[in-house]
Amino acid sequence: MSHFYITTPIYYVNDKPHLGTAYSTITADVLARYHRLFGDKTKFLTGVDEHGQKVQQAAAKRGIDPQKHCDELAEVFKAAWLKLNISCDQFFRTTDAFHKTAVQNVLQKLWDAGDIYADTYEGWYCVSEEIFYTEKDLVNGKTPTGKDVEKVTEKNYFFKMSKYQKALIEHIEKNPKFICPENRRNEVLGFLRQPLTDLCISRPKARLSWGIEIPFDHDYVTYVWFDALLNYATAVGIAQSGREKEYEEWWQNSGQTHHLIGKDILITHCVYWPTMLMAFGAALPKTIFAHGWVLNRDNEKMSKSKGSVMAPDDMVAFVGVDPLRYYLVKEIHLGNDGPVSHELIAGRINNDLANNLGNLLSRTTNLIDKFFGGQAPDVSKVALDEKTRSLIDRAVSTANQVKSRIEDFEPSLALEAVVQLLNETNKFLEEKAPWKTVKTHLVAAGADLYCALEVLRIAGGLLWPVMPEKMTALLETIGCPYKAGVETWPSLSKWGVIAAGTKVQKAQPLFPRIDIEKSDA
Ligand code: MSP
Repeated sequence: MSHFYITTPIYYVNDKPHLGTAYSTITADVLARYHRLFGDKTKFLTGVDEHGQKVQQAAAKRGIDPQKHCDELAEVFKAAWLKLNISCDQFFRTTDAFHKTAVQNVLQKLWDAGDIYADTYEGWYCVSEEIFYTEKDLVNGKTPTGKDVEKVTEKNYFFKMSKYQKALIEHIEKNPKFICPENRRNEVLGFLRQPLTDLCISRPKARLSWGIEIPFDHDYVTYVWFDALLNYATAVGIAQSGREKEYEEWWQNSGQTHHLIGKDILITHCVYWPTMLMAFGAALPKTIFAHGWVLNRDNEKMSKSKGSVMAPDDMVAFVGVDPLRYYLVKEIHLGNDGPVSHELIAGRINNDLANNLGNLLSRTTNLIDKFFGGQAPDVSKVALDEKTRSLIDRAVSTANQVKSRIEDFEPSLALEAVVQLLNETNKFLEEKAPWKTVKTHLVAAGADLYCALEVLRIAGGLLWPVMPEKMTALLETIGCPYKAGVETWPSLSKWGVIAAGTKVQKAQPLFPRIDIEKSDA
């Protein structure tokens, strides 16, 4: 059994979840659910990033203790993800005691090995990005993305990141799929053409107290990114006594760690993180996949400062959880930017789910109800014609197409393969017109409807990771109570699984058409 370990960024608790953070989380959830379906031993990690100046300021603004602020916001994130059907195996909090100890153990090891040293730092700090800049990095006195910076001069501790530059470049060059998509890989290689500076990994407590104390200097706390990046590995036991086996299994030996991130945090993940791991002597992740932006209807990145952030709850109220998940994963090709608006969501859902899938389901189950007493027709004595054989071939090969697309981080194309199968099946029914032939050739019409039923079973199983509630309902309607995982997966590339006589219910509309006029778009 192979492993699959997928992570999302851990989100700052200076803000509530929005459609951008929901996008990362839903995408990782869909990938995790597919891998569980394939039978992989899967772990899906998400969580919150609770230290640093940004969070300290957010708590101060509310006039409350940072820990209390974090406790409250962690619950807000958990509740939001629950509503979106997020099936994480672990919700990570960087204020958890085990994480603090592990971060200190890593720091101590790097200090003892001489990979961390003290020096005086002079430069510019951007609080909103929690990143240091040198004078030459600034554009008109601001960060390259236009954020404010403040001048800082102080003694600090530095990680010898520069020492690992060559090894990192070699690793990226030898492993073309380490950083995906390719344009992001090129961006990182471009960044690495300049000599790397060492990384400042401490903050004096006098300036920032909200962080993990540096084990070898009690006047300092750990730089928030050093602490946050380590979550991926502390979650599976790095630098913790008693968890060695888990660490060996999930981090050092599986070779199946995949980080899904937004393109804004490419350098921290593709430069800071692998060099930290190299210094510790830990394995590197297999993939760092940077996705694009969810854009608002003016094609801009949703941004708090512009007030253009959409709340996941509003979209859920508009279309429902599963259709929202479907839209985000199907419509935004992973790696690209993609817009979200009420009109776009309604159009996609009406077309793919209400018309294509919904019609196939209601036609098929209505006819079976009316002419076959609500039971799956018996096809044992029917000879298959060419059209039927070709539909069957297509249907039983879809699962493998879906699997390879998912393994290549192309969930939108995986869904496209299922949509194509549904299109073909609707066409098949149009041509065969069992609603007409049922009056003269009952058995042949039954065979055509049985084909549609089997396609619905396969499509329902294959779409289940994206729309778990809706597909569970669909499969129950056609008499296939669904259990995701190893037992189900082989049946998705088999034909003739539904036994003759299985109870088929008349379907309730699963995806009512969305009337855009009635929305506030
Ligand atoms: N705390 C750091 C990450 C540390 S990971 C070790 C952080 N947090 S964040 O709250 O700012 O979240 C950033 C992530 O949210 C992005 O990388 C991206 O995954 C997601 N998104 C935020 N806005 C987004 C969009 N508009 N569109 C898509 N994803 C976006 O950075």
